[in-house]
Amino acid sequence: MSQPLFRTPKGVHDVLPEDQQYMTYIKKAVRHRARQAGYKRIDPPIYENRAIFERGIGEHTDIVEKELFIVSSKQKQAEEVKDTNEFALRPEFTAGICRAYIEHGMQVLPQPVEFYAIGPCFRHDRPQKGRYRQFHQFDLEVIGLKDPSLDAQLIQSLQMIFKDLRIDSRLTLQINNVGSSENRKQFCAALQEYFIGKERHLPELDRARLASNPLRLLDSKEEDTQILLKNAPTLSQFIDAESKDYHATVLEYLTALNISYTENAGLVRGLDYYNQTVFEYWDSSTGAQNAVGGGGRYDGLIELLGGKPTPGLGAACGIERIIWHMKEAGVKAPDKDKIDVFVAQLGPEAKKTCLQLIVELRDIGVHTLGALGEASLKSQMRLADKFQAKYTLLLGKMEVKNGTIILRDMVAGKQKEIKFKDVVPTIKKLLGEKNLDTYSITDKLGNYVDAGE
Ligand code: HAM
Repeated sequence: MSQPLFRTPKGVHDVLPEDQQYMTYIKKAVRHRARQAGYKRIDPPIYENRAIFERGIGEHTDIVEKELFIVSSKQKQAEEVKDTNEFALRPEFTAGICRAYIEHGMQVLPQPVEFYAIGPCFRHDRPQKGRYRQFHQFDLEVIGLKDPSLDAQLIQSLQMIFKDLRIDSRLTLQINNVGSSENRKQFCAALQEYFIGKERHLPELDRARLASNPLRLLDSKEEDTQILLKNAPTLSQFIDAESKDYHATVLEYLTALNISYTENAGLVRGLDYYNQTVFEYWDSSTGAQNAVGGGGRYDGLIELLGGKPTPGLGAACGIERIIWHMKEAGVKAPDKDKIDVFVAQLGPEAKKTCLQLIVELRDIGVHTLGALGEASLKSQMRLADKFQAKYTLLLGKMEVKNGTIILRDMVAGKQKEIKFKDVVPTIKKLLGEKNLDTYSITDKLGNYVDAGE
């Protein structure tokens, strides 16, 4: 086979029909649990002003420093505007959602305002298993009110989604409290002081981190760094009493909700906007590598983006990683793309009748295919087999004349002639009302389902 002329870029994948079934299933579970808890859907744009991400996520985070996809346009370049690169593809949802909250004046709404979002995000990561340059997240955000019960409830919603998807037993909840930004400032200063004279023992990357974002040293994978950190001051020594109390209450509520967790004092997360509660969902068997989800509180983010001081809390999960876990756990997403009926025909009159029959069957929710362009009956039957249709309807010149049609049960390999006028009710009965794909914006009477008062 010759090589294709074009391929997807590195780290970017087509979501093929097999995985669409998982995607749809996951989206359904998320939508269902989000709606139950009062979250409303939001779709921030796929690209925005890059400063939103730089300011929000933090200048010295990996996401901003190394992984932002910068967007420019030919027009801008043609205008010779100095800064042609003012937009970036979203690497996550949180900063964009907070921008939307401010831009649309949502602080006047009853608080908290709860959002959910599902869609692609972009990070110029080094591609490897579970790490892509275009990936999908589902995201939950709770903005405008602060209470430990909200932290616990957000985690509870995630638990329910994982349970629905039957991967809850494969994940462990790691939780920590990183205190206030003042606490972290003091800790970072203490860390920098501790490393004075020891910098040369640090690998180059961590030496740079020590200067720009010392907190990142805590989740360094470098052995030398981890050895040096053993005697270093710890973040927990700098956490104020208010944060400690807050954390204790969150844990108490989690216990009340029967949610098990692992307290992890080393968990700091890779985004700068967090304060107090942070958490991640790790693979129970492999640990920190390729977390399925993570989140926490960001009480300073809205102000940082130009809004009034407003507390916030949220979490996001990687859909590709969830799909991987579902497959490992043997969870199958229902295949909604199966073909119920294949319509085969012979002769111009039959073809015209079948054209109408196909429309009618599809409209009542029967997944119907017909190869009206195929001339021979034999090749049409072969196709019916390939598509694994449950039933085939055959209409030839004779049947048109007699007002009949042949109904073939493809599994049993049996066929019979029925009256043409009975074909739609017969198929409906054979498939069963509940198996018809009737989802539509109109109900069975043709009324618009969503048109209320
Ligand atoms: P995050 O931990 O950067 O948090 O990403 C959340 C999840 O997205 C990760 O746990 C992972 O499953 C998935 N993910 C991240 N990068 C990749 C990648 N390159 N390839 C595949 N999956 C990936 C956030 O994005 C925060 N916005 C979460 C949040 C919401 N915090 C508060 N609100």
